[in-house]
Amino acid sequence: MSDQSRVFVWTMLLSTLCHPIQTFLLSGGDVCFGICNCVEEQLAYNYIDETEVKLVRCEERDLRSIPNFAIQNLPTAFYPGGNNFTVDLHSNYIQSVPDKAFGDLPKLSNVDFFGIILTNNSISSVSDSAFLGLENTKVILDLSFNNLTTIPQALRILRNIEVLEIEENPIMTLDASMIQHISPLYQFSFSLTLYNSWPVELNNLHVKYVRYNDYSGNSFQNFDIHGIGQRGIELNIGGTDIVDLSDVICNNQINVSKLWLWGNSNLDMRPFERCSQGTVMQNILELELSSFNLERIRNFVHTLNKLELLNFVVNNITELNANDFRGLTKLKVLILDYNRITTIHIHAFDTNTKLRKLYLTGNMLTHIPDSVVNLNIELLIMNAIDCTCSSLQNLKQVNATFADSIPCLGNMQFVKYALAACP
Ligand SMILES: *[C@@H]1O[C@H](CO)[C@@H](O)[C@H](O)[C@H]1NC(C)=O
Ligand SMILES: *[C@@H]1O[C@H](CO)[C@@H](O)[C@H](O)[C@H]1NC(C)=O
Ligand SMILES: *[C@@H]1O[C@H](CO)[C@@H](O)[C@H](O)[C@H]1NC(C)=O
Ligand SMILES: *[C@@H]1O[C@H](CO)[C@@H](O)[C@H](O)[C@H]1NC(C)=O
Ligand SMILES: *[C@@H]1O[C@H](CO)[C@@H](O)[C@H](O)[C@H]1NC(C)=O
Ligand SMILES: *[C@@H]1O[C@H](CO)[C@@H](O)[C@H](O)[C@H]1NC(C)=O
Repeated sequence: MSDQSRVFVWTMLLSTLCHPIQTFLLSGGDVCFGICNCVEEQLAYNYIDETEVKLVRCEERDLRSIPNFAIQNLPTAFYPGGNNFTVDLHSNYIQSVPDKAFGDLPKLSNVDFFGIILTNNSISSVSDSAFLGLENTKVILDLSFNNLTTIPQALRILRNIEVLEIEENPIMTLDASMIQHISPLYQFSFSLTLYNSWPVELNNLHVKYVRYNDYSGNSFQNFDIHGIGQRGIELNIGGTDIVDLSDVICNNQINVSKLWLWGNSNLDMRPFERCSQGTVMQNILELELSSFNLERIRNFVHTLNKLELLNFVVNNITELNANDFRGLTKLKVLILDYNRITTIHIHAFDTNTKLRKLYLTGNMLTHIPDSVVNLNIELLIMNAIDCTCSSLQNLKQVNATFADSIPCLGNMQFVKYALAACP
């Protein structure tokens, strides 16, 4: 995922319900299956790059059950071929997924993936034969925001699940062999709402990217999930009461390449300091600590010398000091939106020679800081600044393209034009 889409996804997470699909309508599309529309669209589904799919759109149709996807009702122009295929049924009132729910559609599709989007329904039962026909197809399955109490047995016939979103279901039974069956997965999301200790069944997971929400426990004792092959896990933990992450970041050999922690306001920072020299912390490439109450960049941060991306959005940081990022020579992206930054030390970024993108929206800065001007930066995002010529003076000596689209306080102008008008 690019860092910009990370920011986007992150912003989505801030709102109560994260909806992981973004679709961009290309063509109106025919009515099909009575109440749906068959369209071709560019679709981005998190880890999958934006790609053209044949999409059966049946979302928000007040459906109580899944329509009859009889193949004879498919517009002929829409026969799959070459394109990926997705059936979108999100935000209906569907309660169960019957046998062969997708009819013969799976048979038609000699496609790279078949997506089934059922998020935000009331599903509490899935027939064991619901996904018949998709045994050997790569499947993306979004069952998040439903009413399942366990991972459906129906998944056992699928040999190639790439994505399983099942967060926000009242799941209280987990079966280690099911977790083993669905692995490896590119993407998995799960709410730990009904668990107050780490469910060891999940240690059978092999995954690239995993998101855990709403954990009711306060430690991750016995946590031991795995990446795919030698790859590090991308681990996203949010909206929980966890206090102690030491079982994730200390004392073990798991490879975490990206660690995103958000909205865990009670998190104990001491293990981060204590274990910053350990295997886990030293291998982290991307770190997010957002919506805590951080008042300064903690000391351990500058020792994580593989870091490429650092995200501290929505904290309470007021100052960036000379040593906060010292030694982060691989850092490319720094995201500090929505803090209360007023001061950035002139030498704050001296060693961050690879820094290219800096996000400073929602702070209390009225100038482009001198420490930023001499960086070889490509993108700087911040709120309107003072565009009087004396204030822009530090930009005159450098190639200030990065500042072009920053708005000016008090008028509709951008820095680019204000700067051009200065002597
Ligand atoms: C299907 O989607 C995958 C993942 O984005 C993409 O690599 C592939 O090219 C797509 N296939 C077709 C036929 O468009
Ligand atoms: C979930 O679906 C219902 C019914 O369509 C809709 O009213 C509601 O807005 C949806 N919720 C979200 C968060 O999309
Ligand atoms: C979820 O299932 C429970 C128990 O079967 C039921 O009482 C409840 O109404 C269901 N909730 C929704 C939103 O369908
Ligand atoms: C850990 O994961 C990273 C990123 O996926 C990989 O480059 C590295 O080789 C892995 N390290 C180990 C010790 O497996
Ligand atoms: C930030 O710090 C100020 C002053 O210390 C405090 O009043 C405020 O509640 C804090 N804000 C958040 C979001 O923690
Ligand atoms: C100025 O910076 C931009 C963006 O980094 C770059 O594309 C452009 O070539 C630079 N222009 C000059 C004159 O160096």
